[in-house]
Amino acid sequence: MEKKYHIQLDKDQIKNAQYALLPGDPARVQKCAEAINPNAVKLACNREYTSYLTSINDTNILVCSTGIGGPSTAICVEELAQLGIKNFIRFGTTGAIQPYISIPSLIITTGTVRLDGASKHYAPIEYPAVADFEIANALIYGAKKTNEEYHVGISAASDTFYPGQERYDTYSEYVIKDFQGTMKEWQKLNVLNYEMESATLFTMASALGLKAGMISSTIASRVKAEKPDDSILHLAEMKMILALKEALIYLIG
Ligand code: URA
Repeated sequence: MEKKYHIQLDKDQIKNAQYALLPGDPARVQKCAEAINPNAVKLACNREYTSYLTSINDTNILVCSTGIGGPSTAICVEELAQLGIKNFIRFGTTGAIQPYISIPSLIITTGTVRLDGASKHYAPIEYPAVADFEIANALIYGAKKTNEEYHVGISAASDTFYPGQERYDTYSEYVIKDFQGTMKEWQKLNVLNYEMESATLFTMASALGLKAGMISSTIASRVKAEKPDDSILHLAEMKMILALKEALIYLIG
């Protein structure tokens, strides 16, 4: 059976899974797959794409990392869709830009400001990057079940972690004019957070007739600091995975 070029998976391996969980970080795949079901099995590992098959109540669920950003996410979603995956849930870390959002806390994204480039290869910029309503709803249910702080709303997804998210703690300490003042602008427009994949994922999913959602966990509060706080990373990940598992139980039954 033919393996898809980048993800190195074929149809047999995914065993009719209809859901794919997509972290950016390959190291997060095993943690998530085993938290959902300790009997999860490793499938493949090629470039940024590590995959495991896990399950809830006999329903198989694929967990596959996307790497960081739109281009590698687009490859992953494209090849998984070719294998028959219909539902995609991204989970990852994020930087909060509103002062009332704590770290760590959970964010369920309903729509994304398309600051990326990859989504434009699937639909013109006027096309919205929106989450599937049912998946977003399930993620809200999952977040509620954890009793953790959560927020629901609009994210901004950029192609760069530094200038695109208006960070100045960089080699040049310079951000080009196009991005100067943009964090303030997104704050004023009630955008909740920055991340790097949901614009591509949501646009692709809607354009291709697939479904997608995203839950993220805040590891940076951009009103306080530019750097993410690594000391809370593990806690932030585990809260998010717990909410994700509850959402899947809700969706799959
Ligand atoms: N991921 C991002 O894209 N930005 C952050 O600030 C933290 C995680």
